[in-house]
Amino acid sequence: MSSESLRQRIIASWSLRAKAYHSLTRDWELFEIMAKRLIENASFSKDHGAKVLDLACGSGLVSEVLFGQFPRVKLHLCDPSETMLNLSRDLFGDRVQSYLQKAARDIKSMALNFDAILCSAAFHLMDEDAVLESVAQRLKPGAVFVCNLWGHSFDETAGLDSSQDWRPVVRKALKESGQDIPKWPASGGARLRSRQKLREIAEKHGLELDLCQVDKDLVPGAFTIAFLAMRESWPADMDKDTREAVLARAMELMPEQEPCYTVRLRFRK
Ligand SMILES: C[S@@+](CC[C@H](N)C(=O)[O-])C[C@H]1O[C@@H](n2cnc3c(N)ncnc32)[C@H](O)[C@@H]1O
Repeated sequence: MSSESLRQRIIASWSLRAKAYHSLTRDWELFEIMAKRLIENASFSKDHGAKVLDLACGSGLVSEVLFGQFPRVKLHLCDPSETMLNLSRDLFGDRVQSYLQKAARDIKSMALNFDAILCSAAFHLMDEDAVLESVAQRLKPGAVFVCNLWGHSFDETAGLDSSQDWRPVVRKALKESGQDIPKWPASGGARLRSRQKLREIAEKHGLELDLCQVDKDLVPGAFTIAFLAMRESWPADMDKDTREAVLARAMELMPEQEPCYTVRLRFRK
């Protein structure tokens, strides 16, 4: 598959899950924690009406948190999925400066420059070379691009990720309900980024990677099930009530808490 078709497929898959994702981000605290870390590392001052781009804004969580802390901020929201962008529009109306339906690599052609660009829970979906090139062109001198990576997409933490251990649990829940066990695609296919490579790509585009920090949070094991269940056909095709019962049982069987690794990254122009 060409990289363009893959990109379109990823975007379409998020459009399909937009509503489910919106609920997930408001139900599970981890997303807010990640958003707060980005904002903390962008170092805004209270009275400064900074011009900020929420890149891959999804249903607007980062902007919601940012507005809560810095009401004077001038926000622009960008996402290639119209469905996602509409959820953000429902939330903010004309309180934000603009809604831009664009993929991250396409922001280089915009006529706006920013004091900060924030991007949460989406950098792993992107080609970092193309995105850092674009981002570098939209940052004012000294401005920052702050984003994060799920631990499964970073070489130092990929081996520590236990969220892939859902299979035996889901298998048991399905079996108890008398359901067939489907053949799920193999796990562990994430493309791994490394600190050194990100630093090199950043430098090529005139950016300095000045923060790269691993965070470890304890999250309920049920989070993994809730995340995967955004796809309506997961874990298998079955009627609605049976599916709900299987999901509830799988959540019950997951460990009470699991470590979740994320990496915060800050690139400065
Ligand atoms: C997991 S959501 C994150 C949304 C939001 N930042 C948050 O923290 O809740 C991922 C978002 O990335 C967007 N996305 C996917 N591919 C993209 C790309 N190539 N460029 C920009 N955004 C992309 C999707 O449409 C989706 O809204």
